[in-house]
Amino acid sequence: MLDALTATATPAVHRREDYRPPAWLVPDVSLDFALDPSATRVRARLDVRRGGETGEPLRLDGDGLTPIAVLVDGVAVNDWRMENDQLVIPLSGDAHVIETEVEIAPDRNTQLMGLYSSGGNLCTQCEAEGFRRITFFPDRPDVLATYRVRMSADKARYPVLLANGDPIASGDNGDGTHWAEWHDPFPKPSYLFALVAGDLACNRGTFTTRSGREVELGIWVRAADLSKTDHALHALKLSMAWDERVYGREYDLDVFNIVAVDDFNFGAMENKGLNIFNSRYILADPDTATDYDYDAIATVVAHEYFHNWSGNRVTCRDWFQLSLKEGFTVFRDQGFSADQGSAAVKRIEDVRGLRASQFPEDAGPLAHPVRPESYLEISNFYTSTIYNKGAELIRMMATILGPTRFRAACDLYFDRFDGTAATCEDFVACMEEGGGVDLSRFRLWYSQAGTPRVAASLSHDGGRATLRLAQHVPPTPGQAVKEPMVLPLKIRLFGAETGRPLGPEQLVLLEDASETILFDGVAERPVLSINRGFSAPVTIESDRTAEELAFLARHDDDPFARYEAMQQLMLDTLVAGAVEGAADHRAVIDAVADTLDDPTLDRAFVAEAVLLPSESFIGDQLSVVDPDAIFAAREALRADLGRALGDRWREIYDANESDRPYEYTPAAKAARRIRNVALGYIAASGASDAAALAFCQFERADNMTDRQGALSVLVNGESDLREAALDIFYNRYAGNPLVLDKWFQTQALSTRVDTLAAVRALAEHPDFTLANPNRARSLIGAFAVNQRAFNQADGAGYRFLADQLIALDRLNPQTAAKLLPPLGRWRRFDPARAALMRAELERIVGTSGLSKDLFEQASKSLD
Ligand code: PHE
Ligand code: ZN
Repeated sequence: MLDALTATATPAVHRREDYRPPAWLVPDVSLDFALDPSATRVRARLDVRRGGETGEPLRLDGDGLTPIAVLVDGVAVNDWRMENDQLVIPLSGDAHVIETEVEIAPDRNTQLMGLYSSGGNLCTQCEAEGFRRITFFPDRPDVLATYRVRMSADKARYPVLLANGDPIASGDNGDGTHWAEWHDPFPKPSYLFALVAGDLACNRGTFTTRSGREVELGIWVRAADLSKTDHALHALKLSMAWDERVYGREYDLDVFNIVAVDDFNFGAMENKGLNIFNSRYILADPDTATDYDYDAIATVVAHEYFHNWSGNRVTCRDWFQLSLKEGFTVFRDQGFSADQGSAAVKRIEDVRGLRASQFPEDAGPLAHPVRPESYLEISNFYTSTIYNKGAELIRMMATILGPTRFRAACDLYFDRFDGTAATCEDFVACMEEGGGVDLSRFRLWYSQAGTPRVAASLSHDGGRATLRLAQHVPPTPGQAVKEPMVLPLKIRLFGAETGRPLGPEQLVLLEDASETILFDGVAERPVLSINRGFSAPVTIESDRTAEELAFLARHDDDPFARYEAMQQLMLDTLVAGAVEGAADHRAVIDAVADTLDDPTLDRAFVAEAVLLPSESFIGDQLSVVDPDAIFAAREALRADLGRALGDRWREIYDANESDRPYEYTPAAKAARRIRNVALGYIAASGASDAAALAFCQFERADNMTDRQGALSVLVNGESDLREAALDIFYNRYAGNPLVLDKWFQTQALSTRVDTLAAVRALAEHPDFTLANPNRARSLIGAFAVNQRAFNQADGAGYRFLADQLIALDRLNPQTAAKLLPPLGRWRRFDPARAALMRAELERIVGTSGLSKDLFEQASKSLD
């Protein structure tokens, strides 16, 4: 009885096949905001034109809005009606002017979608469907309008008023308020609308485009943070120059503004001419940001800037095409970052990220194609599959076309679709036409989910080598049977005796379920290097021996393949350790030693190559994940590496100490990275002075990379210096939310057995709040990826996560839904853990008043 009363109606499914062009277009919009934190008035004036021959009424999306007034061609009407949240206005002619007025309350907006307040300032987030929380509008990406925006607000509280496009006029109202008007001449969908009103300081710069346009750049932050914006401004200038040089794309407005806010659901947003960023992707100085943060800032600044072409000038027809802009833009930002330092290390990091988040997604209940067929809540589809696998699809096409033809095909795409809303199919068609290739079967990558597995086996007989390849795409929800994919595999053979390549690298396009490739004139026993550069996002299952992997780890000339061989060798060893309780560590120790000793290798590469695969990636190789056995096997190998190579780690640690102040240069970064890796191995060896060494580094560090590196080592350990370091860190950064996030996160990621208890206590800490997404992610999100602590056998970790998600869902459904996937991994665990995880998912689904965001993620995770 109660159930029937409280059960919410199942949310509507949106299907790609249901796409219809808009019945009404909106060429021009004028918006007038009387801004106020508790009661903002929004008046909208829409020029509407019929889009087709239909007799459809005008349907304007709204979310939580009540019309105060509705006017058609200047006359108040009352024949409108509300259908669910849509405002429906019957119209007879083909062109009208519609005016509406609503009132909204930004300071009660905890979802951080639409107009909301953050740190006393007002800002917006409209992608994907937030504009409908601001005003009534056809809130879909294929309705492109030019926007004129007028804002008026209290002058003392909101001295800065920003919107999309170029500033047109501003003035004083004489009553303590002031106003500003902005105009964006480029037609755009509503999800790219933005405004900001606040008390902000600006780091200004200029950029002259190659055709001579002077662009005024501004990074807007609270005054106290101004000194932390130079890195972001520099990255912006580099991005603008890079897009001109590499893609021939120029900026198109007179101003480009970026605003940093502390409360933000994602990383950043590419609103036309007015990017809004999570402050963690803008603010940096050596004392508060790690090298990783510096890199991420440059990448995200570039990503949002690159969207000006791949996203804004050419946008998406509907949200099923999301990867059209996101996959392509991630591919572009990856290219940019690769050009800033070590391309090999960048590729290693990107593949590591793909394996950490996208592969598990593709193997679990939330698997979906890069171009999904349906969704309940579009916010749930801002996934690693759309972004990172989407980028791999573009990369494969670029590999197949080669650089010159790929560039020509991109030019064709931008030229043909400029000013329109396009589809993934449009993009592929341009790759075919501009590149002169047939991608008919490549399109399966957009429609089939799942990570392909490729079995590779090389044999050698009398001067001829035979490579047998067989592919299999595993079933995913709704897709039981798959067709073979088109896989571009870069391959090279090496001579086992000489260590030299036997012929050039080849690009093999595996298109069938299986294929045999012959190599003639192979006198020496060959060793197979395959999927070099990670040319296809697949899992390779080869029968290469430990000896052959160790050989490649020493001799392969492709740095990624070299890294990969080492990883596979480590993985095989760790899997054996986890399954059998012990393993022979000698091959790994020797290969690590040789890597450390090879003077020709870049230190940045060495630091990545000697790191062990993560616990979760080891788990992905097992039929049943045993988190405790994985942890034990990994710690045992770490300890052995630490002990066996103890002198080398010490040498590296000492040799890479810097006597210069912090510099963000590739060489200085590499030195810090390898020194911190060495510290980790010294601690793993159980050396009695490890904690003292870490504490000394912690105290003497002039930068966050070294300070946090040392803190992590201490936090994983048992020394008394642990609490001391945590207290010093906390007190030193008490006023800095981004650094306090690190304080929470480091503790949530601790490998200690008491981590859940510590995390529970931290959830009660006065500085903890679920209302701020960064803070919620730093504790709850980090804990949920801590393999051993989260998966403790009594299910207390699962219960804790579910409790937090139910609480967070009431404030911020999007952020709650994003943190759910670890609970959906139940199929990968033993029956006892699986049952405990399912029970928590069922508890979430059964919660009354649940958002459709969390409902979709939890209910799909049960299937
Ligand atoms: N479009 C943004 C990006 O990729 C991500 C985003 C999505 C931000 C939804 C906010 C809301 O860069
Ligand atoms: Zn993006």
